[in-house]
Amino acid sequence: MKDFPRCDATAAWAALGGHFEAHGRDLDLREAFARDPARFERFAFEAPELFCDLSKNRLDAATLHFLVDLARECGVEAQRDAMLAGEAINLTEGRAVLHTALRAPPGTAPFSDEVQATRETMLAFAEAVRARAEGGARPLRHVVNIGIGGSDLGPQMAVAALAPFAHPQLALHFVSNVDGHDIASVLGRVAPAETLFIVASKTFTTQETMANAATAKAWFLAGGGSDVAAHFVAATTNVEAAARFGITRTFGFRDWVGGRYSLWSSIGLPIAIAVGAAGFRELLAGAHAMDEHFARTPVEKNLPILLGLLDVWYRNFHGYTSRSVAPYHHGLKRLPAYLQQLEMESNGKRVDREGRELAYATSPVVWGEPGTNGQHAYFQMLHQGSETIPVEFILVKESDAQAGGDSAVREALARQQRMLLANGLAQSQALMLGRSTAEALAEQPQAPAGAAISAATLAAHRTFPGNRPSTTLVLERLTPRSLGALIALYEHRVFTAGAVWGIDSFDQWGVELGKGLGNALLARLEESGAAAGPLDGSTAGLLARLRP
Ligand code: F6P
Repeated sequence: MKDFPRCDATAAWAALGGHFEAHGRDLDLREAFARDPARFERFAFEAPELFCDLSKNRLDAATLHFLVDLARECGVEAQRDAMLAGEAINLTEGRAVLHTALRAPPGTAPFSDEVQATRETMLAFAEAVRARAEGGARPLRHVVNIGIGGSDLGPQMAVAALAPFAHPQLALHFVSNVDGHDIASVLGRVAPAETLFIVASKTFTTQETMANAATAKAWFLAGGGSDVAAHFVAATTNVEAAARFGITRTFGFRDWVGGRYSLWSSIGLPIAIAVGAAGFRELLAGAHAMDEHFARTPVEKNLPILLGLLDVWYRNFHGYTSRSVAPYHHGLKRLPAYLQQLEMESNGKRVDREGRELAYATSPVVWGEPGTNGQHAYFQMLHQGSETIPVEFILVKESDAQAGGDSAVREALARQQRMLLANGLAQSQALMLGRSTAEALAEQPQAPAGAAISAATLAAHRTFPGNRPSTTLVLERLTPRSLGALIALYEHRVFTAGAVWGIDSFDQWGVELGKGLGNALLARLEESGAAAGPLDGSTAGLLARLRP
């Protein structure tokens, strides 16, 4: 791939710096709306399956103009095209990055025949599992996915999100943590004869997954199970290691599928089992529609690119260190955790592609909880804390919540959906508008009985600075298709920010050091391995306390 200038050496970066000093830092959202009655329409964007309101962000037309220039100077489009064409853009691992090929129609992307064939085998198996839940002497009731990171978070998030579309007789469980409490709690609720285990690991070497799989196998055999091959399958690139474990049915994929981008591959087997082959195809179709938008829409209207650029604007010019995600749909409760890996493992880097230390910040911290729960936890800080944290609201217009056919219950649930949406809207409104001290005083609140506090002091506590930025994404309904589009939107947004920053968004060397040290300390805890070499004082002291 062609070299592009470092983002901080471009003319657009300098222009953005000047623009920030002159207009950006002090941009007041209330004034901006007062000045421009068309601000909402000006910053409204459409992409497949979703609408995005950027108008409550601290930007104006000039900001977008300079950000678009930045994308062009940094070669975001050329880097995107290189990724889609299968160039080895994951430089440090010498790999292509082709999760988009997993959702492309036949014949339109690299490795098409192989992708289609692998997917058909996986989907046929998913349908067979669903059929085994419906009949027979010993029907299947439970599917336990054993994996971690990308082999857990994506499928787990999607299965939760698509619960209303899931097979009613099959319970999906996810085990990831090496902490035995995780698998023990699942094994306590299932029986060997009615359980299918999926060992999901790209490498089939990950410590946590191997330990949990071994425990599951021991439990299965101890509980009277004998046919490991019938109750354990694998999703992996390492067929030989799976075979050594005793697994004969393996669903493969290639090394050009990154772990955190792998839910579209065989790693998506739990999703396919939950929602069926047709549902899984819908998920892929939604993602592909977003891929097409990303590949073909001019930067000015290209939503994933604009969101990635907004991340750069906030991180590098405003200096915001984190972004909060607030999905107002309980099914998206695992979305923040999924996005943490997607964004922070991808863009949490401190050197550029050539290994030179960066002079600018990269990934923000990404965190959040579903609305309205977050409102009763940390929204206090978002509204009145000393830092500004941009918030991303995800609103889903229609609800699929059901609890039987009773009309009174249906109306109660419909009202709850209206309450949910009103809450989401109110939070973004409150963040932007705030409440001035004059307004707080004018409300003349009564001091609590017995509190020795003046009206002015109380008003200071009840003042909200406002002007706190937020983005609102709106989906009509959370379906396999719209979920696919939403996830692909985030994938390409992360790509865009990484492309501007000039980093390798597809490796993850940062998890290696801890893994190696963990193995060495395990040997010391078990006093089995070569306990060579001195330890630092803290680790030695803690080890002595923890040794059995
Ligand atoms: O945390 C590091 C990591 O390599 C992730 O990138 C990956 O998703 C996870 O471990 C699991 O890896 P595997 O699928 O090989 O078990």
